[in-house]
Amino acid sequence: MKILGIETSCDDTGVCIYDSEKGVLSNVVSSQVKLHAQWGGVYPDLAAREHTKNIIPVLDRAVKESGVDLHSIDAVAVTVAPGLIVSLVVGISAAKSLKWALKKPLIPVHHIEAHIFAIFLSDNVQFPFISLVVSGGHTELYIIRKFEDYTFLGGTLDDAAGEAYDKVARMLDLGYPGGPIIDKLAREGKEVIKLPRPLLNDKGKNRFNFSFSGLKSAVMREVEKGIYRKEDIARSFQEAVVDVLVGKTVDAVNEFDIKNVVVAGGVSANSRLRERFFEEAEKNSFSVHFPPLYLCTDNGAMIAYTGYKRLKETGRTIGYDFEGKARLRLDRFIEYISRR
Ligand code: KG4
Ligand code: ZN
Repeated sequence: MKILGIETSCDDTGVCIYDSEKGVLSNVVSSQVKLHAQWGGVYPDLAAREHTKNIIPVLDRAVKESGVDLHSIDAVAVTVAPGLIVSLVVGISAAKSLKWALKKPLIPVHHIEAHIFAIFLSDNVQFPFISLVVSGGHTELYIIRKFEDYTFLGGTLDDAAGEAYDKVARMLDLGYPGGPIIDKLAREGKEVIKLPRPLLNDKGKNRFNFSFSGLKSAVMREVEKGIYRKEDIARSFQEAVVDVLVGKTVDAVNEFDIKNVVVAGGVSANSRLRERFFEEAEKNSFSVHFPPLYLCTDNGAMIAYTGYKRLKETGRTIGYDFEGKARLRLDRFIEYISRR
């Protein structure tokens, strides 16, 4: 089966052709990072305009690189939620046009679901597993019992982990996106400041929730003192974030006695997060899986693969009247598409 996947939920335009027998045939991503760098974050109207310019050239390249005839694909999959609505609608419109022109089914995919299921492009993970999704817009913990059986455990009450990385990078004047830059710089620094670990020891209703905005303000206060080296601040910040992300995931592993963990989303590329997770996995006897780096940040391959799973396992498709949603939690997305 061959699926064409389209991703435009934020600032990356991604198109992939996935073949269930041969794997990823092409995976083209056009990044807008340089454009948004001047604002230190994604500027929605600009992102949408760029998607409209890039979507057809990216689609064209993905089809050419795959070597398949566009008419031979079996279905089109597209990210329908969550994300910047002005960006989502560009991909959804392109996907609907393909559905119409090719007379093929259209499969809805949730962006977070795709980040999680991208792991199956590299690893054969056993269900059930705990998934920590950490990206620029999301920090969430789920139990994934099987495809389309998702339990939400908690999420961020304010900033996402990646957002905190980007904002701290801006305070330190390091450039955008901040995550990879802080990751690298922190390797040269020491944890000279013991920053707060928000909600880490909360064993009540917030035990699986996250909060990074207080941590960001604490970093700001240290930056303003003007006495610490940037690499030491980066290291102190990164240790705090990683402690919280790893600590809460390990709590979920122990509470639900689930021995597999999948870490997904842009921040899962973080080298310190990977290192700490592998240490804890050994100590607590669980196995942890990270997607290869090219699948951590936004891409069409994760959409095409998840679309393939949906078509094969539940056959859920959508029509021309289906609308994208800027905000829709993964477990609620399954309810939403089940009702249609
Ligand atoms: O998943 P993604 O590409 O887009 C969203 O869906 O948000 O994630 C982008 C985020 C950015 O905030 C970026 O700074 C962060 O992932 N990121 C990292 C690293 N690489 C990307 N954060 C920490 N360490 C990294 N190595
Ligand atoms: Zn993402």
